[in-house]
Formats: sequence, C-alpha cells, structure tokens
Amino acid sequence: MLSYRHAFHAGNFADVLKHSVLSLVLDYMTRKEKGFCYIDSHSGAGMYQLADEYAQKTGEYKNGIAKIINDDEAPESLEPYLSLISSLNLNSELDVYPGSPGIAKAFVRRQDSSHLFELHPTDIQHLQDFCQRWRKVFIKQSDGYQGVLGLLPPPSRRGVVLIDPPYELKEDYPKAVKTIVKAYAKFSTGTYILWYPVVKRELIEQMSDNFSKSTVKNVLQVEFCLESDTDEYGMTGTGLFIVNPPWQLTAQLEEILPYMKNKLGSNDTSFTLKQLIAE
Ligand SMILES: C[S@@+](CC[C@H](N)C(=O)[O-])C[C@H]1O[C@@H](n2cnc3c(N)ncnc32)[C@H](O)[C@@H]1O
Repeated sequence: MLSYRHAFHAGNFADVLKHSVLSLVLDYMTRKEKGFCYIDSHSGAGMYQLADEYAQKTGEYKNGIAKIINDDEAPESLEPYLSLISSLNLNSELDVYPGSPGIAKAFVRRQDSSHLFELHPTDIQHLQDFCQRWRKVFIKQSDGYQGVLGLLPPPSRRGVVLIDPPYELKEDYPKAVKTIVKAYAKFSTGTYILWYPVVKRELIEQMSDNFSKSTVKNVLQVEFCLESDTDEYGMTGTGLFIVNPPWQLTAQLEEILPYMKNKLGSNDTSFTLKQLIAE
C-alpha cells in the first residue's frame, strides 16, 4: 500500500517539530570534523513546491512553517531550521519546503555520506532529481527498515538515522520500534529519530512500552498535540522518540515547544518532553 504522499503535508506543524529537531541534531553532528553517516529510511520526495495542487489542497503548511518563517520572535533554537528554509526561499515569501533529505543536504559536508530509501515510484523519481548534484548520496528504491539495518554500524562509527514511516498500516508502529531495537544492537552510539503521529493513543503507549522493555538506553520523547486526543479519525498531534540525543536538545526543545504552542496552537494545545529511558 503506497497511497501516502508527503506533498499533502509538507511544512505542517508535525514537519516543523520533526525538521527542527533533525536540523539541531545534524547541526550538532557537524561540530566535529570527523565525518558521519546520515540514513533516512523513508525519505519522500526531497523537496516540495508549496504552490502545487497537493500542498494547496490541504493548506497544512499555513498552520505550520508559514506562521513562523518571518517571525522575529522565534527562539534561537529554531535558527538552524528557519535560516535553512529562508535560504531556499530568497525570492518569495514561501515557495518551497524541504523534506528530510532537503534538510540533510543543507548540513552534510564532503566527509559525510547519506543513504536515502524511498519506495513510491513517483517520489523516488523526484528524490533522484533532487539529489542530482549531491556527492556521496546513495538512493535506493527499497524497504527502508531493512535498508537501515544493512548499513549499521557505519564505518565512521558516527551516524544519524531518521525513521519516518507513513503509518498507513498499524504494523508500522511496532515495526519502527523493532527496527531501532535491532539497529541499536548493532550500533548503540548512533542517534535515532523516530517520528510518529498521534492518531490512536494506545498505539503510542505500545511503542513506549516496547522501548522500555528493550535494551535501548537514553531515549527522549517529545510530543506536541494541537488538540486533545479523540476517537475520531485524523492526526491531532505528533511526537518523536530520540535515542542518544545531543546533550543540549532537551533545553532547546524547552524553548521550541512553548513557542510552537503560542504560534500554532490554541487553548487545547499541549506538549510533553520527557526522558523515557535514562542513559
Ligand atoms: C512520512 S513520508 C516521509 C517524509 C520525509 N521523511 C520528510 O520528513 O520529508 C513517508 C514516505 O515513506 C515512503 N515509504 C512507505 N513505505 C516505505 C518503506 N517500507 N521503505 C521506504 N519508504 C517507504 C512513502 O512513499 C513516503 O514517501
């Protein structure tokens, strides 16, 4: 089943959280000269045109990146993310929005390598076009869960893995955690970022339980819910599990979350930040 297209959702509030964290993690990785490996299990198209029919149909970016891109009050922790988006939109207000490969491309250096997995026949084509002049990037139209495991540990012993499935199937919830547990057994010092939507609370609780029962240590969980949980269909919030986060990330998120609530949220909006599993 491959009906999910990220073009409908590019730049929404969930992307703001995911991509600001990804930017902070990658920014941190580049502080050391030694190269690292970036692995994106579910890459999407790489870059999105916000004027196209997909983004315009949902308009989700309007309550996401559009609300903060030109805001002078944005906290310093959002600077790596917001300056990247601004640099892509020099001639207009907001024309394009990067997917996770677009974010990564802005941070990686000559000494770093990137591995991108994507299954959708149209999005893999867009991804290949987007990556044309990017050196040391390896793109595969194959299953990202398997792909991640085949690449670990990276030769540099420094790595960031983003796992960002579409969750069209319920199996994605346990499968994503299982992949990290297996990956961690091969490479316990890597940083892993796992994105999830808040649609059914019990599925997220199962993910947390699966982490807690595993050997994985040092897991930070952040969640931003625009609305309260509901039994109705649809995403009301979003979250990330981050294994081995950079040491400043908690403090940075403590700045970002109230700002997001203020700019994107309402009285029903809430957020949580907790160390799910200690170091
Ligand atoms: C949530 S989107 C990714 C968004 C992207 N990571 C970003 O942040 O911009 C999920 C993507 O995974 C792709 N996909 C679905 N199943 C996959 C699999 N098993 N392996 C690799 N890609 C997959 C979908 O086609 C979709 O483009």
